[in-house]
Amino acid sequence: MKHLALTLIATFPLATMALAHDGVLNPAVKTRMDIMANIKESLGVIADMAKGKTPFDAAKAETARQTLAIASAKLAPSFEAQETDPKSEALPAIWSNWGDFTAKANDLILASHGMDVSSLPALQDGLVSAGQTCRACHKPYREKK
Ligand code: HEC
Repeated sequence: MKHLALTLIATFPLATMALAHDGVLNPAVKTRMDIMANIKESLGVIADMAKGKTPFDAAKAETARQTLAIASAKLAPSFEAQETDPKSEALPAIWSNWGDFTAKANDLILASHGMDVSSLPALQDGLVSAGQTCRACHKPYREKK
């Protein structure tokens, strides 16, 4: 199990989650992208520690976890109106499966609240659980460009 977790951490695709931000005209779309960027940034702090790129720091990890939890709570509400933009990667399936979309957003909220970042091994496990919720939602609801 530990081995699997470390493999998942090594391949954690945060770096490839490119931002499509620039040139977005619809402010509602920009807002939800900003929330997602905030999610990426806070989880990135945790991922860097998990990978040993930065030294483990429980206080910094806890701040990042709290930022992640706050941003996660804004995720689903920011998609409530069906807004679009040429730059958006959001798929229409979001709004035809709204209940499932919000359930997946809720999984991230739960993962961010349940994360134990008080030690490096616990933080690594927490990263894997949170990371799975990103993938679970991007796969059906975010267009690959
Ligand atoms: C409930 C669904 C959902 C969850 C959970 C989710 N995302 Fe997203 N994410 C999306 C959708 C939909 C888009 C595309 C938004 C758009 O382009 O309008 C997106 C876009 C992004 C973007 C690109 C933002 C931009 O500026 O273009 C990043 C980065 C991102 N997500 C990171 C993450 C990370 C990291 C996690 C997990 C910690 C996560 N997301 C969890 C649905 C989700």
